[in-house]
Amino acid sequence: MAKITTASLLKMKQQGNKFSALTAYDASFASAFDAQGIEVLLIGDSLGMVLQGQDDTLPVTVADIAYHTRSVRKGAKNALVMADMPFMSYATTELAMTNAAELMRAGASMVKLEGGQWLLETVSALTQRGIPVCGHLGLTPQSVHLFGGFKIQGRQAEQAQAMIKDAQALEQAGAQLLVIECVPASLAKAITEAVSIPVIGIGAGKDTDGQILVMHDLLGISTGYIPKFSKNFLAETGDIHLAIQRYKAQVAAQEFPADEHTFN
Ligand code: KIV
Ligand code: NA
Repeated sequence: MAKITTASLLKMKQQGNKFSALTAYDASFASAFDAQGIEVLLIGDSLGMVLQGQDDTLPVTVADIAYHTRSVRKGAKNALVMADMPFMSYATTELAMTNAAELMRAGASMVKLEGGQWLLETVSALTQRGIPVCGHLGLTPQSVHLFGGFKIQGRQAEQAQAMIKDAQALEQAGAQLLVIECVPASLAKAITEAVSIPVIGIGAGKDTDGQILVMHDLLGISTGYIPKFSKNFLAETGDIHLAIQRYKAQVAAQEFPADEHTFN
């Protein structure tokens, strides 16, 4: 596998080839995912939940993400390394530039930010300065308290239309990738068709350009609530490397996510 860049992901979208992403937080797992050809590794602020045992992602700091980004960078040979900007680290464009620079220096090749219209100026400021941006729409976990829980988003027609507009506006502002989380499959398909940048889904059906899972869900070691959209690939393979391989193969074949993992 050659080095994955935003350009290779765009080409995959244009050719209709589905790609795989996983969260990664350390060098060993990053290396195992990279060896199986997982295209994108995300140092997600989900680390607040799966590594730190917090109730949500809000306590995570830029220093936390930077620490794990340095580790993942060491294990990633070809995968695109993307780092989450944590809660309030991009509340203003000024803050976003300083904090994104720290994550890029830690080894990220792209940063991910949650939000729509309010974020456009920041997205364009970052990209103009050479920092590639991935947007994140739908169930954006940093807004969990605003939503009143981890709830599916975009069910009402008005909300759905606004999300499509947000996706297009993010692309216009310079975003080169977009994550959509926990939305009906029909909306995910509409967003994927409405933008020319690659769209990665989680809990968003099989029609996005790529899929992402939290690695702890793929391996079935998340404690507490297991989301409907996740799948324990380790249970059906009995081996971590085979589990990663099976995930990638099922995403490529559009066998994952299946109907049982999808909101309609
Ligand atoms: O933090 C995270 O793991 C994420 C993915 C679930 C998209 O943002
Ligand atoms: Na995240």
